[in-house]
Parts: sequence; structure tokens; C-alpha cells
Amino acid sequence: MRNRVAVLHGVNLGMLDRRPAEHYGGLTFSRLEQRIGGFAHELGLEARFFQTDHEGEYVQEIHRAADYADGLVLNPGAWTHYAWSLHDAVELSGLPAVEVHLSDVQHREPFRRVSVLSDVCVATISGLGPDGYRDALARIKAAL
Ligand code: DQA
Repeated sequence: MRNRVAVLHGVNLGMLDRRPAEHYGGLTFSRLEQRIGGFAHELGLEARFFQTDHEGEYVQEIHRAADYADGLVLNPGAWTHYAWSLHDAVELSGLPAVEVHLSDVQHREPFRRVSVLSDVCVATISGLGPDGYRDALARIKAAL
């Protein structure tokens, strides 16, 4: 059964409750992961979680995910906007991926409108807060 999803968070997301509440809602990162776990459960998916502040570790986890997951849900934080290494890692993984952002990246600073990942993802979801992960998981499920 293809139902395993790697949920990979990148730089600064571990500090979620200390980031601007108007964008991130004041939620702790562990609470966010719990909520995503609940969404996965409702959808019959098995979620495995990872967070790092190191770009190379994030790339290596995408490589590893090809051995333990059927799909990827990615919120790389600010790397989204400039880290082409992530684009190449997603491409080489061969896994369906969905990009998700808690905040509405299209309506913040101009640098956040650029994503280096979107062309290797089946969908991009932003601005829905934690609920965006439910949509992201549903998109992955549909792609499996
Ligand atoms: C983010 C949006 C990014 O622009 C930002 O750098 C983050 C979080 C989001 O979830 O809204 O760290 O990916």
C-alpha cells in the first residue's frame, strides 16, 4: 500500500511559536506536527516527520525519503526562495511532492513570491495555516 508520506520542515520552522503571530499563528512546532499527524491519520496516511536548520541535512533527508516514503510534503521555509539544491533533490527523488507554506507567501515581501521548488511539485499550498497541510496530504494521496 502506497500511503507513506515524509513531512519535511526546514529552516526556522522549529521556532514557530517565536515567529510573527500574524503570519504563523503562535502555534508551537510540536503542536503543528501533532495536527499534521491527525490529518494524516484521517486520510489513512502514515506520516514521518523531520526538521532541520541545515540545508545539506534537508537535501540528505529528501534522498533518504526515497527509501521510506511514497510522497513528500515540504515546507523548506526561506530555502524555498533560493535553494536550488532542494529543487534538484526533489527531482532526483522521483517522489510526488507538495510544497506548503503556513503564511500567504504571495502577499508578503516580494522575495517570498519566488519558489525554486514549484516546478517539481504537484501542488503549492499557502496561506491556510495548519489546515494547508490537510490539503497538501490530500493532494499527495491523490497522486499516489
Ligand atoms: C514559510 C514562508 C517562508 O517565506 C518563510 O521563510 C518561512 C515559512 C511559511 O510556512 O509560510 O520560514 O515557508
